[in-house]
Amino acid sequence: MGRLDGRVAIITGAGSGQGLAAARLFASEGACVVVAELNQDTGRAAEEEIRSAGGQAVFAHCDVAEEAQVRATVELAVSTFGRLDVLYNNAGLWLSARGNYRPGVTDAPSPLLEDNVWQRTIDVNLKGVYLGCKYAIPQMRKAGAGSIINTSSIAALRTGRGGNSDAYTAAKGGVIAITRTLAVEHAPDQIRCNCIIPGAIHTPLAGPFTPEYEEAVRKNIPLGRWGQPEDVARMALFLASDESSWITGQFFVVDGGYTAV
Ligand SMILES: NC(=O)c1ccc[n+]([C@@H]2O[C@H](COP(=O)([O-])OP(=O)(O)OC[C@H]3O[C@@H](n4cnc5c(N)ncnc54)[C@H](O)[C@@H]3O)[C@@H](O)[C@H]2O)c1
Repeated sequence: MGRLDGRVAIITGAGSGQGLAAARLFASEGACVVVAELNQDTGRAAEEEIRSAGGQAVFAHCDVAEEAQVRATVELAVSTFGRLDVLYNNAGLWLSARGNYRPGVTDAPSPLLEDNVWQRTIDVNLKGVYLGCKYAIPQMRKAGAGSIINTSSIAALRTGRGGNSDAYTAAKGGVIAITRTLAVEHAPDQIRCNCIIPGAIHTPLAGPFTPEYEEAVRKNIPLGRWGQPEDVARMALFLASDESSWITGQFFVVDGGYTAV
């Protein structure tokens, strides 16, 4: 018996990294997974992979910053699988005005971002969470309960000089704040809302990788290694399942101990 048997889960950004790991894990635990992804190639590939492994999945081409596409994604979940139980707001991006700049590796100042970079960063990382909840919550109410999992970042808790991350940190801080509000507002409907705060996870978003960059990050992680997408996916599975049924409005840092230092 799977930990998500009979559940329907939308996972945004499920074509890569943490979202893909969660899509594989949720499907292997019995969930019907909606792979909501901007990149059509990786989204379709994830759908195909899950189906080939015997799981249930459907691809939804979705930019989480576009309201009509988010609404259509929720409609697809319900028309395909009949209900909606879980929304994992995982899609995100980190745009850098300085290309490959990485904190601790290159010594660049941190200019304010270009306006368009600011706007896109906020739209995808924060507004996308709001839009997903706007359309998912009415369906969860119909289902009688639900679990929303938001994705913040340790960038919202700790920072350093440089990194071009003013918009990113603002968006990810906003994700923590909206998690609390959603949790309290919707608790009477048994809709839970929690937030994962990943540390350095070895995915394309954190790249491009050089040996120097990888080592500079690794040596500051008490557990001595980068996080893998599966490290986060296991936390998401716990929050999606009934094992966390009395947990809402909380944040779970998955960072190998980095922020404990
Ligand atoms: N990798 C890290 O070190 C790290 C650390 C903290 C937080 N995070 C957060 O974790 C989440 C997952 O990132 P990841 O590390 O797996 O990166 P990733 O780049 O491997 O995956 C992100 C996925 O989101 C998709 N995406 C981007 N914009 C989208 C949009 N507008 N609509 C729909 N999909 C979109 C991308 O196509 C990609 O498939 C993000 O929210 C990210 O900010 C990552």
